Amino acid sequence: MGVFSRNIIIAIDGPAGSGKSSAARLLAKTLGYLYLDTGALYRAVGWKALKEGVSVQDEEVLAKLCSRLKLTVRPAGDGMKIYVDGRDITGAIRTPDVSRAAAAVAVVAAVRHRLLGIQRRMGKKTGAHGGIVVEGRDIGTVVFPEATVKFFLNASPEVRVKRRYQELRQQGMPVDLTVTRQEIDTRDLKDSSREIAPLKVAEDAIRIDSTGLTLDGVVSTMLETIQQKAGLKR
Ligand code: DC
Repeated sequence: MGVFSRNIIIAIDGPAGSGKSSAARLLAKTLGYLYLDTGALYRAVGWKALKEGVSVQDEEVLAKLCSRLKLTVRPAGDGMKIYVDGRDITGAIRTPDVSRAAAAVAVVAAVRHRLLGIQRRMGKKTGAHGGIVVEGRDIGTVVFPEATVKFFLNASPEVRVKRRYQELRQQGMPVDLTVTRQEIDTRDLKDSSREIAPLKVAEDAIRIDSTGLTLDGVVSTMLETIQQKAGLKR
């Protein structure tokens, strides 16, 4: 597909296992846009806290950790790579321990504040790509309320647990379905009940239930919507 004639921000929010990462990556690839997985930024902070052995709840300690954190994101293949202090942590942040740490640091105001600035700067640097697909929990509501098109992706709890389980297995992690279910339940509760920027559907977001859809089905629906809603010339 060609490039749209103006700078586009596509926001994709949704809970864990909703299929938003795969959809966001494929959509970005199809449109030739940049791709930003904001969950990886929270994971990077959680990873660093675990590595330094500091509390993932201590606001003061996390604020200091964030202020000296050197985070770099680079497009790579169909996705992106993330570096902390020059070290590639793209694979290391996908463990269940880091998932828990990420959800914990995500409730801390100083962490959200620091990552908000980083995300907004990245959103402005789309350059020749002409657009960016940004996925997370608060993209359409807080990070880019002015996004060109917003999607909220969801799926039945059973399907979300299965997807997460398969993803972990593919990464070679020792996994258990019951533990995965508990992990998803705990993260859902944490992500949607926190005070700052909780996971919620933006008023102007288009909801997509991916339960019975293939990845291509989700992305085709998105592409149609982008063309209709944004009325963009290509
Ligand atoms: O999408 P993910 O599972 O990689 O996200 C990891 C955690 O980061 C998730 O539990 C909540 C947090 N997060 C957030 O609070 N806001 C975002 N925009 C993205 C992720």
